[in-house]
Amino acid sequence: MDKIIDNQTIMCGDVLERLKEIQSDSVNLIVTDPPYNLNKDYVKTQDRLDFDEYIEFSKKWLSECNRVLKKNGTIYVFMGMRYISYIYQILEKDMGFTFNSWITWFYTQGIGKTKGFSPRHDDILMFTKDAKKFTFNLDDIRVPQKFYRSINNMRGANPGNVWEFSHMHYCNANRQEHPTQKPEGLYERMILASSNEGDVVLDPFGGSGTCLRVCQNTNRKGISIELNPEYCKMTEERLKEPFNGFDSVDEKMTRCPNDLNDADVRQEYIYNHIKWFLMNHKDSIPDFLTEVKEKYLKKMIETGQTSIFQDYNIKI
Ligand SMILES: C[S@@+](CC[C@H](N)C(=O)[O-])C[C@H]1O[C@@H](n2cnc3c(N)ncnc32)[C@H](O)[C@@H]1O
Repeated sequence: MDKIIDNQTIMCGDVLERLKEIQSDSVNLIVTDPPYNLNKDYVKTQDRLDFDEYIEFSKKWLSECNRVLKKNGTIYVFMGMRYISYIYQILEKDMGFTFNSWITWFYTQGIGKTKGFSPRHDDILMFTKDAKKFTFNLDDIRVPQKFYRSINNMRGANPGNVWEFSHMHYCNANRQEHPTQKPEGLYERMILASSNEGDVVLDPFGGSGTCLRVCQNTNRKGISIELNPEYCKMTEERLKEPFNGFDSVDEKMTRCPNDLNDADVRQEYIYNHIKWFLMNHKDSIPDFLTEVKEKYLKKMIETGQTSIFQDYNIKI
């Protein structure tokens, strides 16, 4: 029996079976992080297929994704280095999708290698079904500028295609008992960019429920499929947790631009920054204000602009 919590549907079972139940042309966005065939223990599956079997499996689930995705839809697929070129080919040649972006998730720390270079990234392929007609909400995913300049667009810059988020460490309060849980910040950016409120977002390999958690808190209708009933239960529990902000934020989101010297501009910018960049990251507002304090406290005392610090319990 599928569980539905806050417009989020958790479908438990095998991806190839359960995808068949989803209506053709009904999904606005697919964001998924499939098993990379790297021998991970997902309890119900060991992530260890022969090369050809893995390619066949990938073709099958991607072909179902193609069927359910709307004509103006977008698909993002996470993948490790071993198979990414094959997944690219399937998306482009077999499915006829249009390539849009190759995103590198730079995860800053990881396993060490003594012969060769230690891996520090996974990648995400973004393809669209139509070459021109697809959703891309740049304003919803901009990152703060480094400097205030009247010629800059202070609403923020394009985040580019290298995204820095650390792995979900065991000390993170939101860490689940799942071997490959991804940071919510990654999903947030893809979902905000490529769907609108009320849209249907599908994750055919749901894992611990990262995609649905982000959908829940960005007002999308998420659907996830997951083979392991324990991970389905984990997702259910996660969706019931109160929301204080996503578990990961791009460090650039809390940076306060240099050169905010004009008092009126500075005051307006600080409030806008919170509204534009930190609405889904309320727990990061104190970090931003601490940087504001470090850069501008003296000036803000002179111009009587310190009440924002009291509003967020920042000692001055
Ligand atoms: C890389 S993990 C996804 C992790 C997820 N992004 C997260 O943040 O928690 C891949 C998931 O696919 C699930 N899986 C593997 N084979 C599957 C299949 N045939 N059908 C459905 N789910 C499957 C695994 O149990 C695992 O939880």
